[in-house]
Amino acid sequence: MKTTGSPAGTGETAGSEANGAGGAPLRLWGGRFAGGPAEALAKLSVSVHFDWRLAPYDLLASKAHARVLYRAELLDDAELAAMLGALDDVGADVAAGRFTATIEDEDVHTALERALVERLGTLGGKLRAGRSRNDQVATDLRLYLRAAVRQVAAVLTELSEALVDVAEEHVATPAPGMTHLQHAQPISFGHQILAHVHAFARDVDRLRDWDRRAAVCALGAGALAGSSLPLDPEGVAAELGFDRAFANSIDAVSDRDFAAEFLFAAAMIGVHLSRLGEEIVLWTSREFGWVELDDAFATGSSIMPQKKNPDVGELARGKSGRLIGALTGLLATLKGLPLAYDRDLQEDKEPVFDAVDTLLVVLPAVTGTVATMKVRTERVAAAAPDGFSLATDVAEYLVRRGVPFRSAHEAVGALVAWCVEHDADLGEVSDAQLAAINPAFTPDVRDVLSVAGALDARSAPGGTAPARVREQIANLRPTLAADHKWAVG
Ligand code: ARG
Repeated sequence: MKTTGSPAGTGETAGSEANGAGGAPLRLWGGRFAGGPAEALAKLSVSVHFDWRLAPYDLLASKAHARVLYRAELLDDAELAAMLGALDDVGADVAAGRFTATIEDEDVHTALERALVERLGTLGGKLRAGRSRNDQVATDLRLYLRAAVRQVAAVLTELSEALVDVAEEHVATPAPGMTHLQHAQPISFGHQILAHVHAFARDVDRLRDWDRRAAVCALGAGALAGSSLPLDPEGVAAELGFDRAFANSIDAVSDRDFAAEFLFAAAMIGVHLSRLGEEIVLWTSREFGWVELDDAFATGSSIMPQKKNPDVGELARGKSGRLIGALTGLLATLKGLPLAYDRDLQEDKEPVFDAVDTLLVVLPAVTGTVATMKVRTERVAAAAPDGFSLATDVAEYLVRRGVPFRSAHEAVGALVAWCVEHDADLGEVSDAQLAAINPAFTPDVRDVLSVAGALDARSAPGGTAPARVREQIANLRPTLAADHKWAVG
C-alpha cells in the first residue's frame, strides 16, 4: 500500500505473505479476544497510512532495544547478531520499497514486527520484551521530529540569507516606513527587510531551544510503569542521540509537549511568513510597484492575459492558517487527557507531519521569490518623502531650538494642514508663509527636509541609519552561519 492516504478497509493488502501464520493478520494483541476487530473499528484505529514515515526511526529504536536485551542477558550473542542483521535487512527493504506496510498492519510498529517475524520466526517475537508501543511511539516521534526540525531550520536560515542579501543591496535605499499602513517616517529599505530576518532568526533560536527539551528518550518506560527487566534507559538514550532518558515513566508515555511546542514554533514561522508574504503582495501591486517578481516565481491568469500574480506570497500567507490550526487542534486533543497513555495521543502525528511538510514546501518557494525579485529602487526611494514623512524631523528641529515638543508638534501640524490645503510639499512653503504659520519656523528648517539626512540622523543603536543597518548585517551573518551549521550538523 501507499504510505499515505489509503483508508482502512479498501481491501488493499499485500496478500498472504503479508500476514501471520495461516493468513490471519499479525496483531500485537489478541490473546484474550475471541474474534478479530470489527471493520468499523479497524478503519477508525488504523494509523499505518500516516505513521509509516516513522519506520526508519522505529527500526533505529529497535536496534538499541535489542542491544539492551542483550546486555540484560535476555538475548545471546547469536540471537543479537541475527536480530540486528534482520533489522538492517528490514531497513534496507523498507528504504527500497521492497517491504511495505499493509492496511491490516494497524500501525508502523505492527508492520515492522511482522517483517521481523517473517525473517526470524519465533526469535522475532523476543524484541517486544520490556517495550510497549506507548514508549516506542513517543520515542519514534521525537526522533523523527528532531531530524525534521533541523531540516526546517536549514531552509529557514536559507531564506534569511536571501533576505540579508537583498538588505545589503538596499542599506542606503530610502523607503517610506509605515505605521497603520500609512507613510510614517523614512527608513532604509534594507532595515525593513532585516526586520523580517530578525523574526526568522528568533524562530530558529526557538527550534534550537525546543531541541534541548525534546532530547529526552522514552524507551524503557514500557506501557506506563517501566519494566521489571533490567533495561538501561540511559544507555538507549545515548545510543539514539538523546541527551537523557525520561525521569518519570508515566510522563514519558503521556507527554506530548514536544509536539505542541514544535507546532507553536511552526505556527509562529507561518505567521512570520504570512507577514512577509503580505508585504510581497503589496510591493508587487501596481499601486506600490516596488518589486518586480521573476517570471519563475509568479503565475498568470487563465482569462486575463496581462496578469502576473504573487501566488507564493499569497500561499505563504494562506498556509499559515493550517499551521495555526495544527497547533490549536493538538492542544484541544491533549486538554483533559487522564494519565498515562490514551489512544487520543495517536492524533499527534498528522498535524506534526503536515506542519513539517507545509514548511518544507513553502520556505524554498519564498526563498526563491526573494532571491530573484527585482527591487525598483527609484520608485521605493521616490516614495520615501511622500505623505509629509519628514514632519517628525521638523518637529525635532524645533525641539533642538528649545521649543517644547508639545508646541513643536502643534506647529508642524499646522504646517502640514497648510500644505494639505494648498497642495504643497513641506519644502515648497515660502519663508514668509512659514513665519506666518508659526513664528518658531525660520528658513533653515529646510536643512532637515532631506530624506538621506533623516536616515543618517537615526544613528542610535538599532536605528535605521545606514551605518547601523550595516552593523546589523555584520552581526546577523555569523548567527545565520551558526544556525545553518547546527541544522545541517
Ligand atoms: N498508533 C499508536 C499511537 O500512535 C501507537 C501506540 C498504541 N498503543 C496502544 N496501547 N494502543 O499512539
